[in-house]
Amino acid sequence: MKIALGSDHGGFHLKEAIKIYLEEEGIDYEDYGTDSTESVDYPLYGLRVAEAVAEKECDFGIICCGTGIGISIAANKVPGIRCAVVSDVYSAQMSREHNDANILALGGRVIGPGLAVKIVETWLATEFAGGRHQRRINGICEIEKKYCK
Ligand code: RB5
Repeated sequence: MKIALGSDHGGFHLKEAIKIYLEEEGIDYEDYGTDSTESVDYPLYGLRVAEAVAEKECDFGIICCGTGIGISIAANKVPGIRCAVVSDVYSAQMSREHNDANILALGGRVIGPGLAVKIVETWLATEFAGGRHQRRINGICEIEKKYCK
């Protein structure tokens, strides 16, 4: 399993904490930046990670900005991406089990690194349940087909 990581300055410290966790667990990752707390624009990093996942260079993505919202909106513009902003462990589990999220977005100004790592641990350990949920994912794909020309 390979994870694509990205953040802006507001999520940089969470990205670094998640890197330490992934290294401890022996999980492979690619860091698409940013590299410091210097102010940058989050769409670029959301796009880089979303493309890495959509093009199957990585299996999943984890992206962080101040709230997780801006970078998730950017990532969700890439066809095939289902990015969920998560601030609790239950939603982390459900976003994989029910929504088959392939990118997790976290807010560096919303949650601390301890909770972020717990969310990542849960998210990576949870499988998509399929069944009736696949029908709903198919519905999302239909919307994408209608509007993403
Ligand atoms: C940057 O100040 C901030 O707007 C960004 O990190 C993010 O929270 C946007 O959604």
